[in-house]
Parts: sequence; C-alpha cells; structure tokens
Amino acid sequence: MCGIVGYCGKEHCANLLIEGLKKLEYRGYDSAGIALEENNKIVVVKAVGQVKNLENLIKKSDKKAVLGIAHTRWATHGKPSLQNSHPHTDCSGDIALVHNGIIENFLELKKELLKRGHKFKSETDTEVIAHLLEEEYKKGKDFFTAFQKVTRKLKGAFAIAALNSKEPGVMVAAKKQSPLVAGITNKGFFLASDIPAFLKHTNKAIFFEDGDTVKITPKSIEIYNADFRKITRKVHTISWDISAAEKGGFKHFMIKEIFDEPQAVKDTLQTLPPDITKAFSLPLKEAKKIEGVYIVACGTAYHAALVARYIIEHFAKIPVEVEMASEFKYRPIHFKKNWLFIAVSQSGETADTLAALKNAKADGLKVLSICNVVGSAIVRESDYSVFTHCGPEISVASTKAFTCQLTVLYALALQLAYVQGAITKAEFEDLYQELLTLPELLKQTLKLENEVKKIAAKVYKSPSFVFIGRNASFPLALEGALKLKEISYEHAEGFAAGEIKHGPIAIIDKDVPVVALAPKSDLYEKMLSSCQEVAARGAKIIIITNTSVKNALDVPYTNEYLFPLVAATVLQFYAYHIANFLGREIDKPRNLAKSVTVE
Ligand code: G6P
Repeated sequence: MCGIVGYCGKEHCANLLIEGLKKLEYRGYDSAGIALEENNKIVVVKAVGQVKNLENLIKKSDKKAVLGIAHTRWATHGKPSLQNSHPHTDCSGDIALVHNGIIENFLELKKELLKRGHKFKSETDTEVIAHLLEEEYKKGKDFFTAFQKVTRKLKGAFAIAALNSKEPGVMVAAKKQSPLVAGITNKGFFLASDIPAFLKHTNKAIFFEDGDTVKITPKSIEIYNADFRKITRKVHTISWDISAAEKGGFKHFMIKEIFDEPQAVKDTLQTLPPDITKAFSLPLKEAKKIEGVYIVACGTAYHAALVARYIIEHFAKIPVEVEMASEFKYRPIHFKKNWLFIAVSQSGETADTLAALKNAKADGLKVLSICNVVGSAIVRESDYSVFTHCGPEISVASTKAFTCQLTVLYALALQLAYVQGAITKAEFEDLYQELLTLPELLKQTLKLENEVKKIAAKVYKSPSFVFIGRNASFPLALEGALKLKEISYEHAEGFAAGEIKHGPIAIIDKDVPVVALAPKSDLYEKMLSSCQEVAARGAKIIIITNTSVKNALDVPYTNEYLFPLVAATVLQFYAYHIANFLGREIDKPRNLAKSVTVE
C-alpha cells in the first residue's frame, strides 16, 4: 500500500526522500511523487511507474531543498496516472500533501468544496484534504492549527504529511489507522510509513498513535493527541541491522530472506524469556486459566495460525479456533470466557487483523500479539506481545516471518501444555530442546536449494500446481500454494490429502505436479496412499519428507509438528525458482502490497 517519506532538517533531502521511497517499494505501488520546499516555493514532481522514473525528473537545482515529502501510490480512487499520484496541491499550489489510507467521506466533502469553487485536478479522495486545508488556512489560523481542524473533518484511515510554502520550514502530519513513524537524527527528522525508509540514518523512532497530529521543524517535534493535548511519545531504539534491509549479493530479497531464516529463528528463540512460566508475558495464573485459543491473522500469518492450531491442540490439549481476520468480523461469535485471543502479524499494521483484535478486546478477551514490528498498531492495542526477530522483511511474499511466527507459536504451545499439566516438565524440556535445534535444522535444509531448483526447472511450465498434506502439514500445503501463486501468478492449490479423493482429484493429470508433504508419523502410510491416488492419474509427485526415502526431498528429522517449520523452506525455494524461471518480478509481485492497511 502507499508509502510516505518526509524530511525536515538541515540536510539536502531530495536524495534522502528518493532513497526512502526505494526502501518502501516492497509495499507495492504504481506511481510516485515528491514535493520539495525551497525559497518559499513548493516544487512538485510526479512520475507513473517506478521510483527511478521520478528520480530522473528531479532537477539538480531542486536537490538543495531541506524540507520535503514524497509518496508511492497504490491506486484505490482513480487509475494510476500523473494526475492521481501524490503529492496533491490546493488551488493556489502553496499547500502540498501526501496521504496513505482512504478518506471515506471524500465524496460529500468534495461536493461541498466544488460548490465553493475549488478546482479538482485528480479523481482521488486525497485531494479534498488539500482544498480543506486551503480554506481553513485562509481563515487566518496558523498552518498547524488549520491542519488539526481539517483532520477532525476526515472519516476513514489516514497518515498524512503536508507542507505550506507560506510557512516554510514546517512539516505537519497526522495519523489515524494508517502507519506513521518518525525517525530522529541529530540533523533533523524523518517521517515514514515504515522504518526501513530511514534506518540507514537513524535507529531512533517514535511511533505515532491514532489521533496524533504532529508539527515538525528542523529543531523540534511537537506531538498532540486526539484531544489536541501536547504529549510526548516514547522514543524506541530499533535493533534491526541496516544490512538486513539490503539484498547482500542475492538476486532478490526473497531468496536472501529465505537464507536469513536460521539466524532469524535463532534471534527469535533467544529473545523468548527462559522462564517458561513467563515465556509469553502472560502471568502464570492467567495461563493456567486458559480454556481455549482464538487465532486471527491474514495471508501467510493466517497459515502460520492454521499450523499452530494442530500444534497447540496436540500438545496443550485445548481447543483452538482460527479465523481469517477479514472474515472474523462477520461472525457473530459469542466469545468464550477464559479464551486467549492471539493476533499474528508480521507488520503489526494489517487493518483487518487490527479490527478483529479490537472487537475481541471490546468483548473482554485478553489479547496477545505476535508481531515483527515493535511499536506497531497491533502491538500497541495488545495486552501482551511477543516479537519475532526477523529484521525487516522486504519481499512481499513472506518467508522468514512465517517460520519465526511458527517458532513463537510452537514455543507458546509447549508453554501452555506445561502450565496446564498436559505435559510433564521433562517432556517440556525435551520438546523445547528439539525446538532449540531449529536454526541448525534450517541450515541443513538450505542445502536442498539446488535440488529444488532442478525440480523447478522441470515443472515451471505446468498449467497448475497442487500441494497436499495431512494434519499440521495440511496448512503448510496451503502456504506452499499461496507462495507460488503470489510470485509466479500461476494457478496453485493446497489440499488436505485425505480430501483430494472427494473432488479435487478431478483436476489432476500428467501435467500437474503434486507436492506431497509426508513427515514420518502415524499418517505416513496414509500420505503414501494419497500419493498413489494422484500418481494413478499420471501426476508428477514431489515428496518432501524426513524419512530418508529415495527420490524425495529429504529434510532433517523432527517430530511431525516441527516438520512444517523445517519443510516451509523447501516450499519457499520451490515457489522462488519456479517464479524465477518464469521471469516474474519476485520481490514486488503484481497487484500485491506487503502491508495492507485498509480493510
Ligand atoms: C498481505 C501480504 C501477505 C501477508 C499479509 C498479512 O496480504 O501480501 O504477504 O502475509 O498481508 O500481513 P501481516 O503483516 O499482518 O503479517
């Protein structure tokens, strides 16, 4: 979704802003623009397509500006075009602003503004904000007060940054339901939709909260809450390594991030508190009382939740309900008392997950979030949080975040099992020890890349791809199919292996490769029967197992509930190499956004 970068300080900022936009490219966009303030004048430059098109259009003379805002647009209202790309300006051209989110009441605001003689240049919802600001500013207020008043008139979600050439040296901003974070350096301030935009320059960040309005000058940052009361917000120190946001010699972020997995899992495990009774910041008393768990998430995080259902139910013997966040709100669930609500989200900003979490909280449930971004909206709304320590995940298709989410969920399952008396201390310790070997197991699994690449070379032209699994490996089949769809644009589906004979087998023929997830378990023979069923229809079968059978992709041995955490890497390689053979744009697949901040 749209990305915002702003700078106000002592440094020439055009290049800083362009660099920041490039770091936000992963969010998905179709056009880009920048507004620079210099000599009491605002220069706006826009380009359709890539940020580098915009970069080429910025004149040398404008590069000296020390104040500016920039934007990548992911079209919602109006097609991708120069007119619709941000920054948008008022009638006079003095005011320029960028926006991420959706102004839900823009049609009625636009109608009134048109009646009052404003001329609109775009089809966007955003442009109304520029004209409202123009009117409010004309009433004689200072720019920031006018801006605060305008934010009161807006319904919907927004992160906004704005400039006014009549008040040089000032950048104003507001946040409601869309992410916005400030980066603090000793030469000035950044504003951005996400940390990678300024991580190269500072690791000191302030996360704004819903309702905040902000006034930034080169020397100061003033924050006001929803009641326009001046407040201070915590300055967070981001522990991410800058190199984590670079490709580091790899062709794509996705493949680099797959190779990051052993370290990311290690970092995640190391930060789980060693005292198991406190492992999830849940007081022991509360953990003991939990009678069931709701897990809500979207996309890949939803698949991690589905795998976790099997793991938690197996070890802790308590029921788990998993729901896609986008559907959760349509179910008139009567929440059960003493159930824990878990939200899983890499970004911590996914609007659907956030909305579901707020519902659950309003109904009195305790909320635990599993997120990768400290200070994100979901974390702030949660009673308890546990972090995955993946560093920034840039590739739109999630890889290391999935494995780390599962790592945390697996550890949580063991802890719940122990505190609830479903397993003994000795069993807990054995199982936890096995989990601690995961980074090493993942290192071993990475060695399969070439083998997977050879298979991908044979199958990448197939018209359709199928994945099957049972028990905890069934949702992994769904994730394998999602990964492949996302980056190859080919048709792929995941099925419960036991279900294929009830319908899906109709799509199987000799041209359809079937990936079968078959860990050693009581269900292994049943998985082989499912393989026979599809083989009998001529399908090419690719078995991923840990049983050392011939002609299979053999990952290191673990118990069957840890298997998805190891085998995920193989599916990620499979998707990556198929997409690469097809020449797809892997890190920024068409139509997709990394962080979906609208419901
Ligand atoms: C988007 C992304 C997916 C991601 C999902 C959930 O749809 O394209 O890759 O899995 O959002 O994101 P979250 O940040 O909440 O994990």
